[in-house]
Amino acid sequence: LTTKLLKEAKMKFSRTVLVTGGSGFIGSHLVCSLVDSHPDWRIINLDKLDYCCSPRSLEAVEDRENYTFVRGDVCNPRLVNHIFHSERIDAVFHLAAQTHVESSFRCPSSFQRVNVEGTRVLLEAARGARHRPRRFVYVSTDEVYGPSADQVFDESSPLRPSNPYSATKAAAEFLVTSYRDAYQLPVIITRSNNVYGPRQYTEKVIPRFLSLLQTNKKCTIQGTLPISRHFLFVDDAVQALLLLLEKGAAGEIYNVGAACEVPIRRLAQELVQMVKEVPESEVSNWLEFVSDRPLVDLRYPIRCEKLQQLGWTAQVSWAEGIRRTGEVKWYQDNPDFWADTGEQRGPVGDEL
Ligand SMILES: NC(=O)c1ccc[n+]([C@@H]2O[C@H](COP(=O)([O-])OP(=O)(O)OC[C@H]3O[C@@H](n4cnc5c(N)ncnc54)[C@H](O)[C@@H]3O)[C@@H](O)[C@H]2O)c1
Repeated sequence: LTTKLLKEAKMKFSRTVLVTGGSGFIGSHLVCSLVDSHPDWRIINLDKLDYCCSPRSLEAVEDRENYTFVRGDVCNPRLVNHIFHSERIDAVFHLAAQTHVESSFRCPSSFQRVNVEGTRVLLEAARGARHRPRRFVYVSTDEVYGPSADQVFDESSPLRPSNPYSATKAAAEFLVTSYRDAYQLPVIITRSNNVYGPRQYTEKVIPRFLSLLQTNKKCTIQGTLPISRHFLFVDDAVQALLLLLEKGAAGEIYNVGAACEVPIRRLAQELVQMVKEVPESEVSNWLEFVSDRPLVDLRYPIRCEKLQQLGWTAQVSWAEGIRRTGEVKWYQDNPDFWADTGEQRGPVGDEL
C-alpha cells in the first residue's frame, strides 16, 4: 500500500528535479525558487548538511508537498545510484561542493573528493539511469579561468585555475564534458562570478565583513594588492540557472557575469559606512590589513553575451543587492542562524 501511495504521489508531478547542495547558499535560494514557482514539479535536495548550512535556510519550503530532502553524501555511489533508480530524475542541478578557497589550501584532499569524485559519482549514476535526465547542469565558477589583469574571459578561454578549489572545479568540468562527449549526456556548465546575498555563510567576504562590523570588529583585508571581484546577487544567479534549464543548449558552457566590479578595499569601506554610519574620516579605523593566503587572484572579468542572448540580464543593482543582503541587518537580525550547524571554521582574512 505504501508503495502504491508513493507511486500515486509521484505521478502528481510533471517533472522531477534533483538539486545537490540544495541546503547551501545558492542551492537554498534555487530550491526555494523551484518549489515556489513550480508546484507541479518535485524537487529533491541531496545535501550532507556541512558546516556552512543552516536548516533554517529551507524552513519556508520544508513542509511543501513537492519538496523532498535527502541527507547524504554525493560521493556515496550506493545512495546516488539508488536515487536515480528509484526516481525519474528529469533534470539535475549539481551544486554540492567544498567552496571555501582558503580551506582548499589547508585540506585539498577533501576538495578533491567532494568536487571531483562527487561529480563523477553523480555523472555515472545519471548515465546509468533507466530514465536519463534531460539536463545535467554543473555549477562551476569563473575561478577556473585563473586571474586576469586585463583580459576578459569568454567561454572559449583556456582554463588556468590557480588554487586547489578552482583546480578541482576545473577537473570536474572536464569530467562533465567527457560524459557529454562519450555518452551524449545533455550537460550544461555555468561559470559564475562571485555570488552574494542573504544566508551566505560568514566565511565569504561580504557576510564576513558584515558580521565582523556588526559585532564591533574591524574588517580584515588580506594583503596589499588591488584585488577586486565582480558580484552577482543570488536572485540573478538563480534566474540564470532556471533560464538555462529551459533554454540552454545541451553540451554548452555559459558564463554568468555581473556588471559590477568592486575593489575589496572599497567594499570594506562601503560596508563600514553602511553598518557603522561613521563619517568618511573615521572609516579607516574599521579596517585592518592582514597577511595574504598563499595566492590571491587579482580579478576574474568575464563576458556573458552567450547567456544574455537567451534573454538573461542581471536585474539587481549593487546598491539594491547589498541593501537586501541583510537590509544590511540580516546578519544582525539572525545572530543564531548558524548555531545549529556542526563544525565552525572561521578564516582569518577576507575570503573571496
Ligand atoms: N558562492 C559563489 O560565489 C559561487 C560562485 C560560482 C560558483 N559557485 C558554485 O556554486 C555551488 C554552490 O556554492 P555555494 O556558495 O552555495 O556553496 P555553499 O558552500 O554555501 O554550499 C555547498 C553545499 O554543498 C553541500 N555539500 C558539501 N559537500 C557535500 C557532499 N559530499 N555531499 C552532499 N552535499 C555536500 C554543503 O552541505 C552545502 O549545502 C558550488 O559548486 C560552487 O563551486 C559558487
